[in-house]
Amino acid sequence: MSRVALVTGGTRGIGGAISVALKEAGYTVAASYAGNDEKANAFKEETGIPVYKWDVGDFDACTAGIAQVEADLGPVEVLVNNAGITKDGMFHKMTAEQWYAVINTNLNSLFNMTRPVWEGMRERGFGRVINISSINGQKGQMGQANYSAAKAGDLGFTKALAQEGARKGITVNAICPGYIGTEMVLAVPQDVLEKAILPQIPTGRLGEPSEIARCVVFLASDDAGFITGSTITANGGQYMG
Ligand code: CAA
Repeated sequence: MSRVALVTGGTRGIGGAISVALKEAGYTVAASYAGNDEKANAFKEETGIPVYKWDVGDFDACTAGIAQVEADLGPVEVLVNNAGITKDGMFHKMTAEQWYAVINTNLNSLFNMTRPVWEGMRERGFGRVINISSINGQKGQMGQANYSAAKAGDLGFTKALAQEGARKGITVNAICPGYIGTEMVLAVPQDVLEKAILPQIPTGRLGEPSEIARCVVFLASDDAGFITGSTITANGGQYMG
């Protein structure tokens, strides 16, 4: 029986590549998404991966959504907390809405999604929780006080929970992508991207979603059983903290 993997924000961008890579590696994959029905349905058609709609910022919605996935496919053994948003702005212009929305979707979601699968993983003695943080949680980023705070929080969550899961066969790890060529990064103003960001990337290019997906496949595997509480940095050499 193949393991069930659930990928949040799993129908587009980095998450879409993760869902596809896990399917190709033999997992039974479910992809959650929050809003874009058209893209999600196209993804389902194209890949055959079932899609589920709920807001990862809402604990009750996560509990219900996970229950549905488990009823359809079986217990979730691999959870990839990938869903995330940006609401960039210099802090002196940042609104409370920009702050709370990003903290809720990018940090509270890790509680909302992991808590409902955690007890089952403990009982079964196996689990993989893989959190997609960001280079900007490691180094901080101007214009992203909200996002950097949430993504740094994701790393603290990873390290704390890794210690709790270790004796139960559950690993909890993070991946910190750098600037990957997705809609999220391409939403950055073109001149900022070209003048301020690309020159800081030693490889001289944006990353590919598949380059993050391969890290996830490795962390999910049995081979990675001794790796927990760690962070894989995949950023083209932009930051080595
Ligand atoms: N790195 C270095 N300098 C930056 C910068 C960056 N990422 N973002 C902005 N700046 C600089 C600008 O070049 C500009 O400098 P000058 O005054 O010398 O020209 C200055 O900061 C002010 O910028 P703006 O004129 O753009 O100010 P604004 O108020 O119109 O917009 C902003 C501010 C919303 C932060 C906008 O600049 C922006 O979107 N910046 C990009 C922020 C960023 O890097 N976001 C990452 C998104 S991708 C992501 O989040 C995925 C991931 O995990 C990596």
